[in-house]
Amino acid sequence: MSILKTMTDPREQTRPAIHTPNSEPAMIELRNVYKRFGSLRVLAGVSLALEKGKTTVVIGESGTGKSVLLKHIILLLRPDRGEVFFNGKRIDDLPESDLAVHRQRFGFLFQMSALFDSLTVGENVGFPLTEHTNKSKEEIETIVAEKLRMVGLEGLQPKRPAQISGGQKKRVALARAIALEPDVVLYDEPTTGLDPVRSDVINELILKLQRELGVTSVVVTHDMTSAYKVGDRIVMLERGKIIADGPPEFFKTTDDPRIRRFVDGRASPEDLAALED
Ligand SMILES: Nc1ncnc2c1ncn2[C@@H]1O[C@H](COP(=O)(O)OP(=O)(O)OP(=O)(O)O)[C@@H](O)[C@H]1O
Ligand SMILES: [Mg+2]
Repeated sequence: MSILKTMTDPREQTRPAIHTPNSEPAMIELRNVYKRFGSLRVLAGVSLALEKGKTTVVIGESGTGKSVLLKHIILLLRPDRGEVFFNGKRIDDLPESDLAVHRQRFGFLFQMSALFDSLTVGENVGFPLTEHTNKSKEEIETIVAEKLRMVGLEGLQPKRPAQISGGQKKRVALARAIALEPDVVLYDEPTTGLDPVRSDVINELILKLQRELGVTSVVVTHDMTSAYKVGDRIVMLERGKIIADGPPEFFKTTDDPRIRRFVDGRASPEDLAALED
């Protein structure tokens, strides 16, 4: 159980934490990343190394910087301080033109599915292929059909986003995220707003992509059932810092009150005091 880590010493939090075995270079690494928006400090020294082929789950309260963290991995946001590495190469200082190529290795499932309303489901899924490849219309149609089949939405190509349910939209967005067969898939709250059965379909898809395509994944979620099911490892973010890092078993059994409160979904004494007024 040596990889269990609860970082309560503030000095620990500014030190780069290398979590992968030394022999395996991390696929993605954030080193001491800081980010603020005006006076709001969001990331305050985040260090995280992601091992190839593994699924890392990021949990933490709303507004704590999870989506901001995810956007730093694909450099939709750049750090104010600190570095981002991909396969050992520093990428946060690359010009935007080089990042475009880099981003093609990533699939990003945004928090809101972010489908194009004016396009059909088929066109949405095919969009990255139309944009970034020279494939023919027929080739694209074949890939779109295959990806839709993978997410259990065969034949839905002609529908518009407005005609399908929230859960179906998430799955269409996932089909689009994997259209270019990315090495890394970033999921921002993939199960939020879905019923337990639909959520489990998404969990199974995440596991299937890892198993069959060797995808490296980062999953941001509030859904602990999903976190335990898909995570090889879970990290907890609080006020822009990683406060805990370990396998699901650690989060199931720890008695650290900050972690337990979040994991068990209980309000803090401060939250309850605020209700008294
Ligand atoms: N582009 C931006 N400009 C200004 N502030 C931002 C920007 N993006 C995020 N923020 C702020 O940074 C903080 C962290 O946002 P973030 O979206 O990462 O939270 P989160 O942990 O993903 O929350 P949730 O669980 O509700 O999705 C929030 O206060 C948010 O308002
Ligand atoms: Mg978010």
